[in-house]
Amino acid sequence: MLRRIFLTIAILGCYYNTASGASVSGLSLDPQSMECVSCHESSISAATGQACHMGSCEHPVAADYASLSLKNPGLVRPASLNPAIKLENNRMGCLSCHIPYSKANHELLSAVRKNASGPDPMLALDNTLSKLCTSCHKK
Ligand code: HEC
Ligand code: HEC
Ligand code: HEC
Repeated sequence: MLRRIFLTIAILGCYYNTASGASVSGLSLDPQSMECVSCHESSISAATGQACHMGSCEHPVAADYASLSLKNPGLVRPASLNPAIKLENNRMGCLSCHIPYSKANHELLSAVRKNASGPDPMLALDNTLSKLCTSCHKK
């Protein structure tokens, strides 16, 4: 029995380690974000808990949005967030800014994103005029 529990822990530990290259098991990252970083290893810094884009780690993920927004008056209250902005257990994740992963159309959307000049189809909200950003950050 104990042996089985230890084996399970070992397997889970291994999964989390390989998911991001470095271990992200210290972060409270939701399963869907874990899925993203299993392919996009360089999109997260386990050390700082930040999302990384184009090589720079610039935005907190896995942080508790609900408690941050209590302390920070520059943030929209959770109850008033646009429903497209997803929090998981009050925490931010990749899906706070991105649409969920779908095997069926992910690479197609990626190609559209590269070739079209319109809104980025892989974002949870159109970010023209920083609308994605200002849906959490009050001006
Ligand atoms: C099974 C592996 C896999 C998973 C899971 C996955 N992606 Fe991707 N993603 C890819 C591949 C492959 C591409 C295409 C890369 C390319 O076009 O050069 C891509 C492209 C992208 C792009 C466009 C990048 C570009 O350069 O145009 C974004 C944004 C993105 N993914 C975000 C995410 C997010 C956010 C998640 C989780 C919600 C996620 N991906 C989950 C494999 C994955
Ligand atoms: C605070 C909002 C935000 C969060 C959180 C966020 N992203 Fe992004 N992401 C963006 C925006 C905006 C872009 C488009 C940047 C651009 O095209 O200028 C982007 C672009 C990307 C790209 C394509 C560009 C690149 O750097 O290769 C990938 C891949 C990506 N995100 C993955 C992720 C993953 C995986 C997570 C979760 C660990 C995540 N993002 C979390 C806002 C976010
Ligand atoms: C899901 C809500 C949400 C979205 C969407 C969002 N942010 Fe944030 N952002 C936060 C929170 C929460 C913090 C942490 C604030 C704090 O510590 O008080 C933060 C912090 C920041 C910081 C400070 C850096 C740091 O590490 O503390 C910058 C800069 C920033 N965001 C820019 C952006 C930009 C640009 C966008 C649009 C691409 C964006 N944010 C979208 C919630 C969001």
